[in-house]
Amino acid sequence: MRLDKMLSECGLLSRKETARAVRTGQITVGGVPAKSADMQVDPTRDTVTFAGTPVQYRKYVYIMLNKPDGYVSATEDGRDPVVTELLPDVYRKMELFPAGRLDKHTLGLMLLTNDGQLAHRLLSPKSHVEKSYAFKVKFPLSGEDREALEHGVDIGGYVTRPCRVTLEGEREGIIAITEGKYHQIKLMMSAVHNQITYLERRTFGPLTLDPALARGEWRELTEEELAALREH
Ligand code: URA
Repeated sequence: MRLDKMLSECGLLSRKETARAVRTGQITVGGVPAKSADMQVDPTRDTVTFAGTPVQYRKYVYIMLNKPDGYVSATEDGRDPVVTELLPDVYRKMELFPAGRLDKHTLGLMLLTNDGQLAHRLLSPKSHVEKSYAFKVKFPLSGEDREALEHGVDIGGYVTRPCRVTLEGEREGIIAITEGKYHQIKLMMSAVHNQITYLERRTFGPLTLDPALARGEWRELTEEELAALREH
């Protein structure tokens, strides 16, 4: 692949910056100064350095983020802060996007990646990937409410698929759903005449929110997590 493509894909330098860095001798390929920005390199075999540091090439990255309150799960928004703002520049240059949406006031586990194929597969309605959420509601939930939610409720002309609800108190618990309709959990609670006051995603398929991540913090997925996600 072209040297400038390799460096821009891994978020290090734009094509223009690569051309400049080649001219000033800041890039080496296989130990010798790069000849041109469009020279061919094999990222799996050639050692490329920029400003004396070896460049680690990878096309895709996978980030687990603990979404804080008030952030929109998008890459741009005219009004509110967006989740990608929480990441360093190098990832933004790699064009990461959130795989799936959480409402502005929902907290917790988000996956951000630039691997469109994997994201598409995980989010496809046919995949039925399970997501679980810790919730709190305004009014006590009865056993009947729980059964209705588990069985499926009408959220405006659509009946939700069976799900699991574990109560951990009168007004809180865990709900695990296998679909992702817009405002689904809020609408499900409205269907049983209740109201969400707190919502935090804890799991997404095989991923579990890392308790070491404070709100707004992120880390790359481990190899095991990524393998589990791919197999899912
Ligand atoms: N259901 C909701 O209502 N909101 C979310 O953010 C996620 C699931």
